[in-house]
Amino acid sequence: MSDEINNSKIDSKKISDAESRINYLRKEIRRHSKLYYENDAPEITDYEYDMMFEELKSLEAAHPELDDDASPTHRVGGAASEKFSPVAHKVKMGSLTDVFSYDEVRAFVVKCIEKLCVEGEREIKFTVEPKIDGLSASLIYENGLLKTGATRGDGLIGEDVTDNMKTLKSLPTRIEDTGGELCVRGEVYMPRSVFEALNAEKEENGEKPWANPRNAAAGSLRQLDSAVTAKRRLDIFVFNLQYGPLYGDGRLPESHSETVRRISELGFPVIDILKVTGDPDVIISEIERLGRARDTLEYDIDGAVIKVDSLRQRELLGENTSTPKWAVAYKFPPEQKKTKLVGISLNVGRTGVVTPTAELVPVRIAGTTVQRATLHNIDIIRERDIRIGDSVILQKAGDIIPEIVASVKEDRDGTQIPYKFPEKCPACGGELVFDDSYDALESGAARCINAACPAQLERRLIHFASKGAMDIDGMGPRVVNLLLENGHIESAADIYYLKKEEIASLPRMGELSASNLISAIEKSKERGPTRLLCALGIRHTGESASEAVISKFKSIDALFDATEEELSEVDDIGGVTAHAIVEFFSLPETRLVFEKLKSAGVVTAEKENGENGEKNANGASDSFSGLTFVLTGKLPEMTRDEAAALIKSKGGKVSSSVSKKTSYVVAGEDAGSKLTKAFELDVPIIDEETLKRMAEG
Ligand code: IVH
Repeated sequence: MSDEINNSKIDSKKISDAESRINYLRKEIRRHSKLYYENDAPEITDYEYDMMFEELKSLEAAHPELDDDASPTHRVGGAASEKFSPVAHKVKMGSLTDVFSYDEVRAFVVKCIEKLCVEGEREIKFTVEPKIDGLSASLIYENGLLKTGATRGDGLIGEDVTDNMKTLKSLPTRIEDTGGELCVRGEVYMPRSVFEALNAEKEENGEKPWANPRNAAAGSLRQLDSAVTAKRRLDIFVFNLQYGPLYGDGRLPESHSETVRRISELGFPVIDILKVTGDPDVIISEIERLGRARDTLEYDIDGAVIKVDSLRQRELLGENTSTPKWAVAYKFPPEQKKTKLVGISLNVGRTGVVTPTAELVPVRIAGTTVQRATLHNIDIIRERDIRIGDSVILQKAGDIIPEIVASVKEDRDGTQIPYKFPEKCPACGGELVFDDSYDALESGAARCINAACPAQLERRLIHFASKGAMDIDGMGPRVVNLLLENGHIESAADIYYLKKEEIASLPRMGELSASNLISAIEKSKERGPTRLLCALGIRHTGESASEAVISKFKSIDALFDATEEELSEVDDIGGVTAHAIVEFFSLPETRLVFEKLKSAGVVTAEKENGENGEKNANGASDSFSGLTFVLTGKLPEMTRDEAAALIKSKGGKVSSSVSKKTSYVVAGEDAGSKLTKAFELDVPIIDEETLKRMAEG
């Protein structure tokens, strides 16, 4: 009996552990999915994302009682954004089941063979092909003419990016007319050489480089101006026929390999099918070969796709909800390389945090040459016992930042030197504070607390002028450095007192660039308090925190009197951020800089009719204040942009995804998964007319 009680206690503990882990994973996966699909700015590697996803899937399988339809495991991918018109896919754009070991590949092959044998099939062949790491797109041709190009979106509804798709280098806009509507699917990517060249350009201009070619491609294809997309020199590999006649005489293809051959004949750049084979050993050796060749290709691949070749056999095997049973994607583990650590350099950031960077013997990994890797903080050097002169294992999971996984102890010959972190700031010689108790986010960080530290000032000014902040065109790192070195500026406010002659006298700056910079500075005065708050570079206070704070306090002026308690009441602002903001506004130099900015005419408060004129200039009511709307489907009269403008003019917010926090879903014709989600979450659904009536009050 007591055993029983104990067991049930253990079980309920296990369930509650699993439940909190599941909740954590769902939240994190949603957050990272948004960063990946909507912001094109991932914070973690694909591999890490996949691992979280797999863990969630297996926990949900082990605990069916905790399953939830709203879990990210029940979704196909990212939702379409509001920027483009929606395109409903006539044939759902599904995705693939990922596997991470050769055993799983073999299990998949065996399972297909077994099932097909039962159906009386004898010759069972599989294709092996690269999994291109780009973004999925569909292309519709009507009587041989390219009519529509769309992103995948959530698999049911994508975004209409036809004009942008027409800029793709090798995509034909006209093909042989096979009679009617033909739809193919492929993967849009940015060639590595283009990625490297454009990223180098970005860095030169002081812009944030893309994390990887896939993000670059996603951001480029989803541009509102197709002239911008054209400059990004994207390309495509087509890998599937979605529907429609491939041959003019009505014949149907029998296999995937035949389809791809025919698609190629029609003039499309197609995926390279490496092998058609029935032998699992050959499949594995082809995957291995692909893994070895990965580095040498002009495009990123993140795995290999193994598919049943015969289309009839595919039908016999069938589909799961969003993945076929006749294919799997083998995902490569992150690539690792051995190299040598020649030194550790230190970099002082704008908040004074001193970050160590590993200087390496250059090594080519996952498509790029790497000679630096972040060591994040002091703890990592200590924990991984990394010494100068060590052989180290470098990892770059196909994308994001390279990092040192471990040092190779067996390679040591006694010449390696343990690293001693300096006690003084490498830029100003001031004392460093090792504040691992300050907050969990920066444990093990060393900080220079000298507010006058020149390295910090330079970083702060670069941040102040950058795109997401005051967006001063032409004031990149080089110009900031010159202005500081020549004593023209000492604080952000000084930017607004610069004289044209001072700028023109700097090296490589003439009259024209000086007057361009002066007008960019002038323009930046109107950015408004949200951008200004973000530009001030307060710890933990980025774009979204600034937006939240200003939506409550309406001006920078009000923040001088704000208390930690008041700030913590703002949605998404935690104690650490509130503390940092109060600390910043209590500094005497903050007041000085602020007064100077204000006297220069920099806008520090929301205007009566809303910042940047986004709200109704006629002084209309804020009847939608505090409400969040999601628009879906085609509205009868208004475009989405018009509907969004109407909502914003009444003080409401427009979001791209439905959640419990959504106040209303405005649905039109052909509304897709967002409508289903609204039903599931009991979010009120209204039509265009109701929206208009509500807006009229
Ligand atoms: S076949 C029904 N083949 O990988 C699914 N997909 O989740 C058909 N991808 O977004 C997909 N290379 O866009 C297939 N050779 C290839 C691929 C490929 C890249 C992408 C695809 C999808 C994702 C799979």
